[in-house]
Amino acid sequence: MLQDTIKQKLEEIKILKASTKEELEKIRIEYLGKKGLINDLFAQFKELPNEQKKDVGAILNELKNSIQQKIESLREAMAQKQEESKPKEDLTKPADLLSLGSIHPLTTVRKEIIDIFSHLGYTVAEGPEIEDDWHVFSALNFPPEHPARDMQDTFFVENREDQNNILLRTHTSSVQVRTMEHTQPPIRIIAPGRVFRNEAISARAHCIFHQVEGLYIDKGVSFADLKQTLLYFVKEMFGAGTQIRLRPSYFPFTEPSAEMDISCTICGGKGCNICKHTGWLEILGCGMVDPNVLKASGIDPDVYSGFAFGMGVERIAMLKYDVKDLRQYFENDVRFLNQFASTI
Ligand code: PHE
Repeated sequence: MLQDTIKQKLEEIKILKASTKEELEKIRIEYLGKKGLINDLFAQFKELPNEQKKDVGAILNELKNSIQQKIESLREAMAQKQEESKPKEDLTKPADLLSLGSIHPLTTVRKEIIDIFSHLGYTVAEGPEIEDDWHVFSALNFPPEHPARDMQDTFFVENREDQNNILLRTHTSSVQVRTMEHTQPPIRIIAPGRVFRNEAISARAHCIFHQVEGLYIDKGVSFADLKQTLLYFVKEMFGAGTQIRLRPSYFPFTEPSAEMDISCTICGGKGCNICKHTGWLEILGCGMVDPNVLKASGIDPDVYSGFAFGMGVERIAMLKYDVKDLRQYFENDVRFLNQFASTI
């Protein structure tokens, strides 16, 4: 009798199903609980005559093991189903943002200057930072005793017996000379680069800074061309409403020479701290290339004329971004640099 019941239960458990934890727990209690079927069957088993115990005990144990295995496999199946029904990773989702560096404000400004002049047909020229006296001074019409050659301004690398000393260029005008030496007009170049001057470092001066030189040589180039070119540049760089003013000045390599001011980018010309209440800000030096400079580089001043200009990149970036201390450009402080992150 008991044996038949056990056999019947062995068949019955094969088809047990559970789709929730609660259903599974109900099955466990029903079969393996204290008052469950297995315990009940074991109680009946105890009452059996000894000669039946061996056979019945074997299938009763089989039933107990089977139900335990069944419950375990139902639990695994349920866990796997749950895993499968979890929402899958969305492969179309955009990737997490990586934090990128930012472009240095001096790089941005230099690029803008190059872009503006490239629209006027200028190409970029380069020259060495370690130069000789000829390209930095002599060919640019600096008299032998000119104070700019002085130790106070120039970092000398090597003194030469022939006086053509090796030095760090103090301006990018040296690239004018190098270009004219190997190119016949028409010449239209800009030369961005680092320059070096032996000056005490402060908020307004540094021993390393950046300039962009411009040179245009052709037949019949006039001061009016220079003025118009610079006006175009300023309007592109600082906005269409910006005005310019040219003041007579002196450079050994240009004649006539001028310094150019722009109407103050902060107050628009009304007068403020930045423009020292003048309404004007000085941004570059310029002039008509001196005939002596053309001659020194092998260009006939009776046929050709031209103009040159040179501007400081730090100065222009200061005016554009209202930077008050030049040293910040070189300190690599990310709190400063991060402000320009949007310029990427
Ligand atoms: N080289 C000059 C300077 O460093 C700038 C300049 C360039 C002036 C070209 C006139 C013409 O101050």
